[in-house]
Amino acid sequence: MANVFVNINDLSNQDLLSIIHQALLFKSGQLLPVMNKQVVANLFFENSTRTATSFQMAEMKLGYERIVIDPNKSSAVKGESLEDTLKTLKVIGVDTVVIRHTLRGWYDNFCQMAGKEIPKLINAGDGNGQHPSQSLLDLMTIIETFDHFRDLKVRIIGDLYHSRVARSNAEILDRLGANVTFAGPKVWSDPSLTQFGHVVDMDDDLEQQDVVMLLRVQHERLTDGENAHFTIDQYHEQYGLTRARYDRLKDQAIIMHPAPVNRGVEIDSDLVESPKSRIFQQMANGVFARMAILNSLNTSVLQKELLK
Ligand code: CP
Repeated sequence: MANVFVNINDLSNQDLLSIIHQALLFKSGQLLPVMNKQVVANLFFENSTRTATSFQMAEMKLGYERIVIDPNKSSAVKGESLEDTLKTLKVIGVDTVVIRHTLRGWYDNFCQMAGKEIPKLINAGDGNGQHPSQSLLDLMTIIETFDHFRDLKVRIIGDLYHSRVARSNAEILDRLGANVTFAGPKVWSDPSLTQFGHVVDMDDDLEQQDVVMLLRVQHERLTDGENAHFTIDQYHEQYGLTRARYDRLKDQAIIMHPAPVNRGVEIDSDLVESPKSRIFQQMANGVFARMAILNSLNTSVLQKELLK
């Protein structure tokens, strides 16, 4: 296993399925953490509730020493480069650093250095690039329901262009054999995704879908011009999961959303807690998925044992 977890699509299918398996074992209590006093620093340059808190919870459950660094009070504000910050954390004694950053691909120049001159690296979301730990918890949630990926019909709906969740999940789900389609406003389409699935109308074959994956409208990444394309009601009517669309879904279908949810925009507020919704299950799974990610970087022996 490498010293980085920055893009879920870098993992082999075997490593990926092994980490999902570990996460499920952590959740069921069948796999107990090996307490080994790793030191993990959490450095979030972008806001987060789920990812930041569940990484910290995962670190606590694994018995790691945790450090939370507020970027606004760090020397990044004085102009220190990310490389110098990482080298500093390494010599101070940090083994692994979890970073969320606005810059897409912030890790590109650092992967070769990870575990040597700088700590091991975990990407907690990079701009509109990748969100590998979200993707892992999403895959875990799909496995809990369907027990496989092959031929599952997965529709990813919404703001495709700005979404690191769409980018991470489309590629890995396609590779795992799912049948991915995309829907959403043309102004937020992303031609780079069409290698992983067709763009369709929101309402096409809705009855056939196994997974309806809604994406957050990312107001913080939109220009005023992009925001001006819809009112909330228009977006909800055209691309949201309304009660009428929910009623068309088959019995076994599930609804996913990375959250935070804009209730009444991507999804009717009442449907967030509906029987088909896995939204809060996704959040709960985030702790176990992140335990498995941290564990896979730090205890390769256990990883090999699980593969036997
Ligand atoms: N899904 C997700 O990444 O949520 P946060 O931004 O709250 O971490």
